[in-house]
Amino acid sequence: MLFADCGGPFELNAAHTVSSWESKPTTEAETAVIAFLQQRPQLYAGKRLLHVGVGNCSLPAALADDLAAYVGLTVSLPETQLFVEKFATTEHCKVLLVNKYDSRHYSKIEGCFDLIVDVNLKSFACCEKHFDQLMALYAERLNSAGTLITAESGVVFGWAGNTNVAHTPGAQLAPDVAADRVLGLDGLERVSRSFGLDLTCVPAAICEAPGAVEKLWLLRKA
Ligand SMILES: C[S@@+](CC[C@H](N)C(=O)[O-])C[C@H]1O[C@@H](n2cnc3c(N)ncnc32)[C@H](O)[C@@H]1O
Repeated sequence: MLFADCGGPFELNAAHTVSSWESKPTTEAETAVIAFLQQRPQLYAGKRLLHVGVGNCSLPAALADDLAAYVGLTVSLPETQLFVEKFATTEHCKVLLVNKYDSRHYSKIEGCFDLIVDVNLKSFACCEKHFDQLMALYAERLNSAGTLITAESGVVFGWAGNTNVAHTPGAQLAPDVAADRVLGLDGLERVSRSFGLDLTCVPAAICEAPGAVEKLWLLRKA
């Protein structure tokens, strides 16, 4: 089957929502995003942030106290459980078990955001059609002067079909499809042009790894 259209979206069921990054170390990509924002509190203090790929909750743990609202998305039930344990009493923080490539559920994500953080824009996509719908959602839900932040290591990564981890319904499992899930810098430029988002690159230090630098890519709405 071609990667152009998976024929879905398909329902999220128990097979898709298994363990993900709830007990794994934060990726270098997200470590760099956290460091980048912590060095620039004016970018997130009092702002609304949509975090796509909750992982082990290190991003909300670092930033949520200063945010006006934090909304996290994940397809992993253990990630949502960890989030609820940590942030149950924090009214402005919320997690949604939602497949980001399924536009039928976008109405569950309320409001617009000053920041959207997704370090794996296309890495887990079922197909081009639903990836494009996700990019349209991000462009639509950014406030004016709002920014989508992603990271180069995620731009060059594509999931290879390992069903032991939480994954997107309808995603083909053949390992060679991983290449189709690599957005690439050309793909990032296409997204920027198609949705009228201004693209810039910033090198960001990764706190836990002195000397290591991740390239962050910012897509800013006018
Ligand atoms: C590699 S982990 C990264 C976790 C964390 N963002 C980090 O960088 O440390 C991928 C994350 O994307 C989430 N994810 C994968 N496919 C998804 C989908 N279709 N919709 C929403 N989240 C998804 C996983 O649940 C997990 O939180």
